[in-house]
Amino acid sequence: MAAQKTLLFVGYGSMAKAIVSGIACSALKDTYRLEIAGRNPQKAQEFIKENHIEAFGKVYGGSSEIDVIGKIVILCIKPYALGNFTYKGKADSVYSVMAGVCMDTLKQHIRADHYARLMPNVGAKYQKSSTAVYLEGDIQEEAQKIIASFGSVVFVDSETLVDASIATGGSSPAFLALIAQALVDAGVREGLRRDDSLKLVRATFEGFAHLLSEQTPDTIIASITSPGGTTIEGLSVLEDRAVRGALIQACHMAVAKAKQKH
Ligand SMILES: NC(=O)c1ccc[n+]([C@@H]2O[C@H](COP(=O)([O-])OP(=O)(O)OC[C@H]3O[C@@H](n4cnc5c(N)ncnc54)[C@H](OP(=O)(O)O)[C@@H]3O)[C@@H](O)[C@H]2O)c1
Repeated sequence: MAAQKTLLFVGYGSMAKAIVSGIACSALKDTYRLEIAGRNPQKAQEFIKENHIEAFGKVYGGSSEIDVIGKIVILCIKPYALGNFTYKGKADSVYSVMAGVCMDTLKQHIRADHYARLMPNVGAKYQKSSTAVYLEGDIQEEAQKIIASFGSVVFVDSETLVDASIATGGSSPAFLALIAQALVDAGVREGLRRDDSLKLVRATFEGFAHLLSEQTPDTIIASITSPGGTTIEGLSVLEDRAVRGALIQACHMAVAKAKQKH
């Protein structure tokens, strides 16, 4: 039997939790041995307990040098915390989820044969992340397996496109939440009770997710705008108020902010 590879998580916050729970729910749980590193060993132990991680290796505290030799290292810390850890040896590969931290910076901090930058989003909590990935090195098959355990994977051709995916995945759940909030208020304005309105909007988003998985946005719009009908009345108001342009600009500013951190 081939020796188990080690997945070493640096960080035990919400992103680490989402990824670990994806792995724990998949066949990968028997493929990899897990290790946790962070500045607070007690928090790392709590993370292990809370996530029911049965098989794990060493827990590293912040003051220890982290042994990365031959391991797959998943960096799930805040970008400014990168310099707070020191690493011993050369890793097999480094996967970084840190927004705005470029490959060159990663290479200065941790040695590895392969590097990957990925931009997951909050959907990872339910194994429904939308994740853009850029790789350096021949690890596409393994990266696909690991990242698909917490959602959908799109491999992109350049590092800047990982930052670009802040528009389509990283920040967009917040923008969609704003739209959901507005729709709930709209229901209330039209006389629905707030809890009923929220229930109806949730169901709309759920149904919409299914529609979007099979159809383009254009087709969905065309299918519910009959000539001279009610929906086109509403759409013409949104176009008049340039809602589309505002969303594109909002995404652009979010991406620009992440790039500033390089
Ligand atoms: N959440 C998302 O939707 C999302 C999406 C895409 C990318 N990301 C990226 O994922 C990374 C982690 O985000 P998160 O949402 O998991 O954040 P989080 O829940 O706040 O976890 C942050 C982690 O970083 C550690 N950390 C913070 N400051 C530190 C310091 N000064 N020294 C050492 N460790 C420190 C924390 O340890 P302590 O608890 O001990 O402070 C914790 O393990 C970030 O780089 C973010 O850009 C997040």
